[in-house]
Amino acid sequence: MRRTISLGVALGDSFGVHPGAWRMPHADPGAYTDVGVQVRAAQAAERGGVDFAFLPDRVFLRDDLSAGPPIFSMEPLMVLTAVARETERIGLVPSASTSFTEPYALARQLRALDVISQGRAGWNAVPSYEPEAFANHGRPMPPREGKYERLHETVQIVQALWGSWEREAGDPDPVSGTFADMSRIRPIDLHGRHVGSRGPLQIPPSRQGQPVVFMPAAGGPSIQAAGMYAGAVIGMPNTIEDGRAQRDMVRRSAIAAGRAPEEILFFAFIGFGLGATHESALERRRTLEDRTDPRPRLAQLSAMLGVRIEPTAADRPLPAEQLERAAAHPRAARARQALALAHEGFSPRDILAHGVLDPNPGLVGTPGAAAHMMQEWFEAGAVDGFVLVIDDLHDGVDVFAGQVSPILRERGLLRADDGPTTLRGRLGLPEQLGLDPRIRGAES
Ligand SMILES: Cc1cc2nc3c(=O)[nH]c(=O)nc-3n(C[C@H](O)[C@H](O)[C@H](O)COP(=O)(O)O)c2cc1C
Repeated sequence: MRRTISLGVALGDSFGVHPGAWRMPHADPGAYTDVGVQVRAAQAAERGGVDFAFLPDRVFLRDDLSAGPPIFSMEPLMVLTAVARETERIGLVPSASTSFTEPYALARQLRALDVISQGRAGWNAVPSYEPEAFANHGRPMPPREGKYERLHETVQIVQALWGSWEREAGDPDPVSGTFADMSRIRPIDLHGRHVGSRGPLQIPPSRQGQPVVFMPAAGGPSIQAAGMYAGAVIGMPNTIEDGRAQRDMVRRSAIAAGRAPEEILFFAFIGFGLGATHESALERRRTLEDRTDPRPRLAQLSAMLGVRIEPTAADRPLPAEQLERAAAHPRAARARQALALAHEGFSPRDILAHGVLDPNPGLVGTPGAAAHMMQEWFEAGAVDGFVLVIDDLHDGVDVFAGQVSPILRERGLLRADDGPTTLRGRLGLPEQLGLDPRIRGAES
């Protein structure tokens, strides 16, 4: 068990994940194409000891833009390259699909980011799953098996290309006139059913050798692949028990692939709504809620509780006859919390301010409460770290960095110094250049 919590921050939503964030008076409606948003958030996260910034990706216009911004529209590798130039220690982890780009181009782009950032790149390798993503590339959705077959081939070829330029090729030596030892820069000649490459890659290794592979915990085939290649896995557990089960599964998958379970870190998304006091945290969220269309929000709450809540009744506690009928929806993560709040006499509007519709586990409350929750999950073995999901980017990262990180540091749960400057170093992952020899040939 690691002694300190590893931390990432998800920066996919340029305003924050709360649907009211883009309409706050302080928000710049053009922020969704402004890379300055990710730069400032990454700088704040870096000050708070966060190990990496994660950018999810979808290669199609995913959202109905008639009433809200897209989740992410810019290209993650390019955005993170801009972030790299404005930061010093924070890792940079873009999602990039294995289904559309040839492995040579992926290996080259990710290595360029790794070299530009001096060894801070990661790669969230995903196979894509929405038909629209495939349609944008002129293709029908492939069967899941074929999609993962291509993922295995792509990751193996990318890693082999990363290893095709060995460190022993040396540095340019103007005195002797030798630029590089070409016997250490060699073709890979790997060809699968879907993709292939001759190599070698045209960029030398970075300070960390090669980017850290991340993968999502998204069911059987993804966990099997993660066990083989990933240094970090991001999951979406809702409870400590859930987290433990997913983390165990990921660790077992690493063992099955011939690796040690310590070589793979398990992260969970977590989201907070923070205020100096519990009441001020709720007030901040009420203001965000006020900027949303209440109808779909109340409809979601109604479904959670099994009773119909009209917008005109949003400011009054649920009437007794509704409370009697109300029951927590078994599949809605926060339904039990919502029901308990209703029984305590909170109005629907105030129940929503408690974050019951937030997409990830977390809480609305004080920095102390947030630190306590993280400590509890970590010490229970549910996670090795968290990826923070920010409700309102205007202040969310700064408040976490300024008020939660110091508590975690004081408790010895977060690194006290600035820490290493490579991502591999920050996550305590072993050196790797090229394909892991324990995995070689497993799939191709
Ligand atoms: C934590 C997490 C992060 C993910 N990030 C992305 C992403 O950035 N882009 C993407 O296309 N899919 C992403 N996915 C989707 C998965 O890669 C996967 O495609 C999806 O869960 C469906 O599973 P399947 O592809 O095995 O059918 C993510 C999933 C999880 C759980």
